Parts: sequence; C-alpha cells; structure tokens
Amino acid sequence: MKSVSSYSRLRARVILLAVVVALYLLYYKYSNNDNDTSNYSPHLLYADLHQKEEQTGRKFLESLHLIDSQKDPKFVLFRQHEGADFGNQVQEILLHHHLALQSSRFYIYQPFDWKSRNEHLPLSAFLLGATEERAVPASFFEELCPKGSEDVVHIKIQASQEELWDTALSALRREERCIVVDNPIVDTTYLSSPAAQAIWPLFQKYLARWFRWSPQILDIVERRQTQLNLRRHFSNLKGEPYLALHLHRKEFIDYCKTAAHQKAGFTNWANLPSILSTTLAPQLNSRNESSVMEHCYPSLFRVMDAIDLQIRRKPYLRTIHIIHDGIALTDLWKLETALKNPERAHRAGWTYGPIKSLTHSAMLPRESGDSDFLVGADAELARRAEVFIGNGYSSLSSYIIALRMGGDLVAAGIPEDITLL
Ligand SMILES: *[C@@H]1O[C@H](CO)[C@@H](O)[C@H](O)[C@H]1NC(C)=O
Repeated sequence: MKSVSSYSRLRARVILLAVVVALYLLYYKYSNNDNDTSNYSPHLLYADLHQKEEQTGRKFLESLHLIDSQKDPKFVLFRQHEGADFGNQVQEILLHHHLALQSSRFYIYQPFDWKSRNEHLPLSAFLLGATEERAVPASFFEELCPKGSEDVVHIKIQASQEELWDTALSALRREERCIVVDNPIVDTTYLSSPAAQAIWPLFQKYLARWFRWSPQILDIVERRQTQLNLRRHFSNLKGEPYLALHLHRKEFIDYCKTAAHQKAGFTNWANLPSILSTTLAPQLNSRNESSVMEHCYPSLFRVMDAIDLQIRRKPYLRTIHIIHDGIALTDLWKLETALKNPERAHRAGWTYGPIKSLTHSAMLPRESGDSDFLVGADAELARRAEVFIGNGYSSLSSYIIALRMGGDLVAAGIPEDITLL
C-alpha cells in the first residue's frame, strides 16, 4: 500500500517536472531570448541626430537670404495630441507635414513623444521624410517667429468634418510669416469619417513622394529580412514570399470593449471603401456589440479563416510573419500547430501543403539599441509583405495599409492582397 502511494507521488512529481520543462521550452521558443532591452535608449545616437537636425536647420536658415525662392518664407507650427500611440502620432505628424507642403509653408517639426519612457526623441530617428522636405526643427521657432512680433499669429481651426481640410488650408494661406495652430486638428474621428476619404488621394501621393523611414529603422528591416529569410514583394532577391499578420491581443481587449460599448466603427484608413470591402465576412455592424468584438478581438478561428482565404488565393505562400506587441504563448503555439498541420492544410484547400516557416515579432534577433525602432521596423516588414492581414480597429494596421497603398507597391492591385479581420 505504502509503496504504491509513494510510487504515485513519484509519478505525480515526474509529470509536474515534465510540465514545467515543457512550459519552459515553450517560453524559450516564443519569447525573446536576450535580456530585455526595451528600456534601453540609444542616447548617443539621439544626441547625434539632434545635433544633425540643428545643423541642417542652421544651414537652412543661412540659405534663406541666399536663395530667391525662399526670400519670403512662411512657417507653421501645429499643436499635436498628447499621449497618442505610435500609429496615431505618426499619422498626425505626416498629415501636418502634408498640410504645410500644400499651403507652401515650412513645417516646424517637433520631437517624437516616446510615451513609454516619457521622453522626447528626435523626429529624424523615425520619420526622416518629415524632417527633410521644407522642414525646420522647433528649436528654431523663437528665432524665426519671435514672441510679440506682429508677423506671428495664433489661430484655432474649427470646422465640420466636411470642411475641416479646406478650412485649414485657407487659414494657412494668410499673409503672416508664422502661424501657430493652437488646437490639434486631425483626430481619429475625423480620419475615420467619410470626409477624410476626400483627402486620401492627395495624402496617398504625399506618402509616395515624401514618406521616408529613418536609416535606423530600414537597417533593422534589412537585417531581419535576411535573418528570417523574408522576401520583399516584387523583388527578385532571395528569401521566401510571406504573409504578414498583425495581431493585437492582451490589453487591446479593453479598447475593444469600449469600442463595442460606444458602437465605434473601424479606425482611420480602414474605412476607405476599397479597404473596408476586404473585411472577412460577416461585415462589421458597429451597432451590434458582438460584431464589434468579433472584428476588434477576433478568435483564432477567425484568424485562421482569414489566412485560409489568402493561402487559397496564393498557395505558394509558405511563410507567415506575425506582428504583435505581446501575445499569449499558447495562442502562438495553437496557431503554429494548426498552420503546420498537413491534414488541416489539405482540408483547407492549400494546394502546396502547410506553412513551412512561422516567425513573429518577439523572436526577431535584436541588437541593443534596436528597441525604439522595432514598431517602425514591424510596420515596414508588413508593408513589404506579399499579403497583409490586419485589424480594422488598430491605428497601426491602418497606417500599414496607408503605406502599402502610398508606396512602391501601389501597382499591386493592393486591396486583394489585404484582408481585414
Ligand atoms: C451580432 O453579431 C454577431 C456576430 O457577428 C451575430 O452572430 C449576431 O447574429 C448579430 N446579432 C444581430 C441582432 O444582428
């Protein structure tokens, strides 16, 4: 009796040990295996970039007297939303720059607000384009637009959504040398409205012409493409064509519950009719809370349906890259198991068999100092993917879609290569 019970205790311990080892292996496989560098900020690089911005600004100021076309320069400084996340902040900055260019004013750019560390980082570390074309850093503002000068006006731009953009443009066409816009003007509600669709064609052109990532972000993208063997859409370089999937999990559920409660629809450019029509059935009905949850926080079944749809179209895609900022390891494991299962692939009608390679954000090799640039690098990797599956409620997904449509992939008959969850 005694030996039987000690035997079963031993067995229980062995099982427990096996479970612990299995969990550890799972953790090791799916999480970063370097020491977390997410709080590491490359201060030297930022100091250097800051100095470069100042030098370029200084050179520009000196050239003002020399170049005829810049004899009568005009400037605009916009008030930005505080505490916006990466996707929203980026779109606001790009739209401001676009407004400035459209109204022939120099764009006075401000540092990027890095919420998680409560730091302000040089904009050129992220959105190089917005600091290069007819742009000066805000540190020159006082010099260019001295306080109290009658050539400096403060304005507020208020108008209905339909009239907002034109109102802003005509306000910026005033005579004064410096205009400070004291209220944030473009927000998610505006960008999600039909009115914003009217400004899309020109913004799309702006993106194609002026949008540029920083060298820091592009460098990580190149490294990752090589290390993960991912091939850019429409290139003949080596590597595998891939499908990028943006999964927003974990605390996003709180956002989704609020969205459901408020009966909110998709965000920003996900509402462009050509993109909205890529939504995996059933269509969103924002008055129905379950429908909002279904699209905003899709089940893994739904995610698999979206992948099935695209792989049936393009069965040669055997590589999937998942973009996320935190996801349950068990979810990743379930997805990988399903995607690599030959019987399931057969049942789902994947002509060329199951997925060969699944990669995701957290397993990317990183070097210390990379961490601030990973969101940008992820967005660019998704932009370059042959197929993109995104979340209509995410500003990052919406931004990725805008970049896909605004960049060198435009010719691709893009909407077919996109599925909104
Ligand atoms: C609400 O949405 C859910 C999920 O799509 C659906 O199953 C349900 O039938 C919808 N309810 C109504 C009243 O349309």
